[in-house]
Amino acid sequence: MADLSIELFGIRFKNPVWVASGTFGYGIEATRIYDVSKLGAVVTKGISLRPRPGNETPRIIETPCGMLNSIGLQNPGVESFLKELYPQIEKIDTHFIANVFGESEEEYVEVCLALESAHKIVAYELNVSCPNVKKGGIVFGHDPKVLGSLVERIKAKIRKPLLVKLSPNVSDITEFAKVCVDSGADGLVLINTLLGMRINIRKARPELSTKTGGLSGPAILPVAVRMIWQTFERFGFRIPIVGVGGITTHEDALEHIYAGASAVQVGTANFYEPFAPLKVIEGLREFMEREGVESFSKLVGKAHRLDIKGDVNLSQKTLQDSFRKGGDTECRP
Ligand code: FUM
Repeated sequence: MADLSIELFGIRFKNPVWVASGTFGYGIEATRIYDVSKLGAVVTKGISLRPRPGNETPRIIETPCGMLNSIGLQNPGVESFLKELYPQIEKIDTHFIANVFGESEEEYVEVCLALESAHKIVAYELNVSCPNVKKGGIVFGHDPKVLGSLVERIKAKIRKPLLVKLSPNVSDITEFAKVCVDSGADGLVLINTLLGMRINIRKARPELSTKTGGLSGPAILPVAVRMIWQTFERFGFRIPIVGVGGITTHEDALEHIYAGASAVQVGTANFYEPFAPLKVIEGLREFMEREGVESFSKLVGKAHRLDIKGDVNLSQKTLQDSFRKGGDTECRP
């Protein structure tokens, strides 16, 4: 059987397929429908210092090939997370990554420090890209100086690896990636949601209570792939990239991986195809076996290797599948 295990920032993951923050609760909920320990990692819903009720409803609306959300980082706060949820997480045999959020630098640090002794949490994913809150979130991710200072300050205080989830709502994402590289981040997560809006034409007003929200789902796949490509082109293997944005199938995941992602997260697909993460794992495994790929790392950034001319030598089955995928006009959700 093809070995999908990977090592990133000194941690061995059983496979490169993780589930994205905000689309999978705290990993506990899905244990009722499948074996969550099969996942490479679970990234938790954003955790803040104090509990947050989130935004007023309506805070989710469907869009062509995707959805808009404006949850507002609802969560029970780090203390309650550790007391009520963490004991259940401890029973699940895979790694957890805590998505961490604060309204000030100090709050980010405090949340990370509170989680330092929780051994199932192997790394932090810094949320500096949520577009749905007035304080924190994107405020830290839109100004390179503010971002650099936050990453440096947290890195000085913690022992676990620090990943930074970047916003696509900037003109050049590689400038923000550079700040993270220079400030000592251990990994990048590309991308969070794109700022969007829908209007209810019967009521002649915005669909979401906050007017705007974050767009996710298959509609954003090409944006994510482009931003991963640009970031990998600039930094290569200097910092691992975790791809997130529009992944439903293993073919979608391969686009992220060929663009430069060393691991991927399945997000919005969890809402309309709950078994998608498991299918992506199996699809990647079968692909590697069929195509005789011994090591997953050989796939990372493959589309950048310009010595490949014409089609790579693929099996008939893979060629047929990719042909069927075609222009991909079908809208999955
Ligand atoms: O509104 C939210 O909770 C979204 C969070 C995010 O996009 O990071």
